[in-house]
Amino acid sequence: MNKHTQFKAEVAGMGIYVPAEVRTNADLEKTLDTSDEWIRTRTGICERHIAGKDESSSTLGIQAGKMALESANISPEEVDIIIVCTSTPDILFPATACFVQKGIGAVNAAAYDISAVCSGFVFGLSIAEQYIKSGRYRHVLVIGSETNSRIVDWSDRSTCILFGDGAGAMLLKSVESDEPKGLLSSHIHSDGEKSDFIIVPGGIGKTGVSHTAIDEGEYFIKMAGSATFKAAVKRMTEVSQEALDFNGLSTEDVTLVVPHQANRRIIDAVTDKLGIPSEKVFMNIEKYGNTSAASIPIAIHEAREAGLIVPGSLTLLAVVGAGLTWGAALIKW
Ligand code: UT7
Repeated sequence: MNKHTQFKAEVAGMGIYVPAEVRTNADLEKTLDTSDEWIRTRTGICERHIAGKDESSSTLGIQAGKMALESANISPEEVDIIIVCTSTPDILFPATACFVQKGIGAVNAAAYDISAVCSGFVFGLSIAEQYIKSGRYRHVLVIGSETNSRIVDWSDRSTCILFGDGAGAMLLKSVESDEPKGLLSSHIHSDGEKSDFIIVPGGIGKTGVSHTAIDEGEYFIKMAGSATFKAAVKRMTEVSQEALDFNGLSTEDVTLVVPHQANRRIIDAVTDKLGIPSEKVFMNIEKYGNTSAASIPIAIHEAREAGLIVPGSLTLLAVVGAGLTWGAALIKW
């Protein structure tokens, strides 16, 4: 390499994995005061996948990661960094990424987790982008993997209907090019003033784990749904525009929006505000619900499989999550 070489982060491979068990809205109707009709019309969700007792964020991530490496035709030994984006790590530590490293045999990789909840995958991409553009690393595996079913209160109809389990992986590879190519840019933000919008309040380092806190449900997701909804629409719209402006692009240039799959109505409101027609918006929320950090990579993979992302396409990713965190990224394929 010479000092003028420009490294771009190209998507070399992708993989996904979702657990076999499916929990439908009809299943939830049996134990909750809810209805399939309410869930579909208020969220767009019809069913979600639920991890089995021997599954965890690392086992889902291993399957997705292996598939990404195979599709990229890259051997595990060639992976330099594994970033697992998860808010449902297997255990407190070591990082879930270390279990994934072991599972896929990426013996030369450094592996660690990041926590930006639903925004995790876009935050992970922003780190991978810097590693690759600096010229320091060649292959970075970014995995969003979640077992949300373990931290939802299945008696709380305002949250449990929303979430599902799954994993998605993207292998980013360094290529030398002067053309706009691969991950063009990523844009990330946080607002800790809104940390109580979506929260699992149970203490670890703050109070230690206590029986009282467990009994009071503090290790389950609590969400201010309506405030989160409004913040999601505002922030996803803003940050999408920021990503386009940064690259001198307009919404007309976007081939496909792949938004975080939290609520169909949030996606519709964001894309309406941006003036992007629904044919250019990918949704699979009906099958998976909100899989948090896994939502965007699962959706990108499925959009590619459906032939909606082809060489030359421009994809806009936009997300919001607990923190509050939000972000966007543009990928030129
Ligand atoms: O990943 C990023 C984070 N998450 C999000 O982005 C989620 C953001 N928020 C949302 O998606 C929506 O706020 C929800 C889907 C959670 C709730 O929808 P909403 O239209 O904001 O409903 P709401 O909370 O204003 O509740 C309306 C009514 C309430 O009844 P009353 O008080 O009007 O009698 C709720 O008790 O709907 C009731 N409700 C339900 N009814 C049947 C809430 N959940 C359910 C349910 N089934 N599952």
